[in-house]
Amino acid sequence: MTTFDLVEAKSEWSLDPEVHHLNHGSYGALPRVVYAEQKKWQEEVHKNPVGFYARLSRPAVADARAKIAKFLGQEADQIALVRNTTEAATTTMRGFPFKSGDEVIVLDHEYGAITYAVKRGLEPAGGKVVEVVVPRLAVDEDVVKLVESAITGKTVMLVVDHVTSATARTFPIFELSALCKKHGIAFTVDASHAPGNFDTDLDALDADFWFGNLHKWVSAPQGAGVFRIAPRWQGKVQSLVVSWNEFEPYPLQFDMLGTVDLSAWLAAPRAIEFYEAFGWERVRKAHQQRMRFGRDLVMAELGVGTDELREENLPMGVVPIHNMQGGVEGCAALGRKLSSEYKIEVPITIFSDKYFFRISGHLYNTPADYEALAMAVRKELK
Ligand SMILES: Cc1ncc(COP(=O)(O)O)c(C=O)c1O
Repeated sequence: MTTFDLVEAKSEWSLDPEVHHLNHGSYGALPRVVYAEQKKWQEEVHKNPVGFYARLSRPAVADARAKIAKFLGQEADQIALVRNTTEAATTTMRGFPFKSGDEVIVLDHEYGAITYAVKRGLEPAGGKVVEVVVPRLAVDEDVVKLVESAITGKTVMLVVDHVTSATARTFPIFELSALCKKHGIAFTVDASHAPGNFDTDLDALDADFWFGNLHKWVSAPQGAGVFRIAPRWQGKVQSLVVSWNEFEPYPLQFDMLGTVDLSAWLAAPRAIEFYEAFGWERVRKAHQQRMRFGRDLVMAELGVGTDELREENLPMGVVPIHNMQGGVEGCAALGRKLSSEYKIEVPITIFSDKYFFRISGHLYNTPADYEALAMAVRKELK
């Protein structure tokens, strides 16, 4: 019988026990202690809104930002807090000084909303997005070569995911950063899934723009994102929201969004502590162990061979579904069926006209979660 490490952690979540949660990657899931911390901050607001917003919020946000920065190996003034990576990407692309004829390279693995943000910033200026096709299983060396062959004299920026959404793979961000430096172009990293999974040396990476979510693999409340702008762009790419902090330098300008719920930022340090108590390395291994168990079960059901895998140390993995069709609507229909008839939440992604289950492993998952998916696959897809 398979046993997973850290099974005792399951009770820390108040997830519906009837549901098999195999999609941590999209929206995360909040441990009880982190939710308690978030509610504590919300109660603070309701006890005395003026006291909170006029006096307490500023030092409280500064304190949370300093703790989050430390977790990311940064000084407090090196990172800004944002609500999520959608917001950080929009801020980058709306603020970057694009001009007519500029080209921005994105890979075909990029998250759709982020590509839209690039287009919204670039196209009105008269620039164009250049999409580079990268085979799902391409080795890192080939990824760098493919990107380099797309760089022209008009290229001003490369946008790359550290961990992709539809294909759950990593890209070699350090090699790509070096490539951008060699060609004198800006480097933007969508690190939505990175915090919690990697201890990236952000100073060594020296991306022009790097953004990550804390509400995915750090289990902060939804609405906790981090946005690192390299010193050379600070003050040039400004916060999207104009507030009373308009004349404050980076990152303080980002701290103020008018009157909003700040509890996700303020509770994020509690989420970091929660995992630190187990040890991040152990947590990561426990996630990967569960993901591999589930992925292998589903691969066996679908007759998928290991030659269709890119083995990575990630808590999410994709399994190709060869006998599937129907496009986005087909995926949504299968997702609805798995949810309503089998109580399984699992993303079905499309990449390059092929379909995939993206299966996640998390401390709250048990073998039964994956066995339920394997059984559903047997019934619905064989
Ligand atoms: C690669 C990638 N980029 C961006 C996002 C957007 O994240 P958010 O909705 O928190 O802004 C996601 C969300 O799943 C993602 O996977």
